Amino acid sequence: PKPSEVTPVIRMKSYACQRRTPLKHHNSFLTEALEILAENAEFSENEGRSVAFRRSASVLKALPHAVRTIDELKDLPCLGEHSLSVIKEILEDGTSREVESTRQSEQFQAMKALTGVFGVGVKTADRWVREGLRSPLDLVDTGQKLNHAQQAGVQYYKDLNTPVTRKEAMVISVIVEKAVKALLPEAIITLTGGFRRGKEVGHDVDFLITHPEEGAEEKLMPKIVNWLEDQGLLLYQKTTRNSYLESKDGPARPPSNMDRFERCFSIFKLEQSKIDSNAHAEASSWRAIRVDLVVSPYSQFAFATLGWTGSKLFERELRRWAGQEKGMSLSSHALYDSKKKCYLQASSEEEIFTHLGLEYIPPSERNA
Ligand code: CTP
Ligand code: MN
Ligand code: MN
Ligand code: MN
Repeated sequence: PKPSEVTPVIRMKSYACQRRTPLKHHNSFLTEALEILAENAEFSENEGRSVAFRRSASVLKALPHAVRTIDELKDLPCLGEHSLSVIKEILEDGTSREVESTRQSEQFQAMKALTGVFGVGVKTADRWVREGLRSPLDLVDTGQKLNHAQQAGVQYYKDLNTPVTRKEAMVISVIVEKAVKALLPEAIITLTGGFRRGKEVGHDVDFLITHPEEGAEEKLMPKIVNWLEDQGLLLYQKTTRNSYLESKDGPARPPSNMDRFERCFSIFKLEQSKIDSNAHAEASSWRAIRVDLVVSPYSQFAFATLGWTGSKLFERELRRWAGQEKGMSLSSHALYDSKKKCYLQASSEEEIFTHLGLEYIPPSERNA
């Protein structure tokens, strides 16, 4: 064959945290299909199956070109038999029967609609689907008992399922900065989550807040929430200590100060006039936007930044790498070396990658 027809040999590391995964890649047609199957596996609480599909999709996202034939994939990691057969079918026929029938299925569509309600998880959605409910409207019509989060979820369903733009995220950033600086001028506010990875839209806006003086960040979250509430900017909020506290003490539990780690799931009321200066003044137009706020002590800030930047699969792979390859335990609070029996300190994400023996991957390349 002519050189141009030779299948290029691609070497790919098997953990997503060893690879660079850009936001825009060349195989969306395949990865979207595999992610439908991953989502469907999550709906049936089959985590192993879901992760397998997500890992397959992630490998395709890291390829420097569009896949044309199944032969190009033979030396790549993480591609199981099932994923390969789906990819093969799509390459040959343009679609996969399994993916299309999943997409069309009433079960999948109902689970998608119901888990799309803020505050509704897979277990609750599944119970409702078995009771014959299909949509958020069905919840209202049948008078389902909803908790406060779910009530807000139904009330703002449309807004919360409208992607948040970068422009809106920037307006929210200005508001959060103003609130935090009014309370603690030296505080540091970082945009995390998908927007830090360079996404143009997201399902929410994520912030991490800290203060260079350890302990100064204590009790900050309730003050931020009160400030925002006084300004009429919150439609819903629930502040919690990190669930990590209540979990059985894993080795990644930092020794003393973790009880200062707080998070707030909220829904902001964003005036449309702040986004679009052409909006009619008389129309009281605003929209609901999901915002996550996390406060971290300075000593854990690097771990929290890494943990809240994502992607979810990238985070999962980092923890798997730490455990399986390094005998370490990584969380958003700390890194514990099980062999040396000690916590490894870090003041930047770069240092954490170094502790883990990984090449540094910048946020924009963590879109695994
Ligand atoms: N995260 C977490 N614990 C949670 C929820 C989220 O540690 N209970 C972390 C995840 O690891 C993720 C990051 O917070 O990497 C952001 O989560 P999320 O907002 O759900 O996802 P994004 O990557 O920001 O994507 P999207 O644009 O859809 O918001
Ligand atoms: Mn490319
Ligand atoms: Mn997010
Ligand atoms: Mn979030």
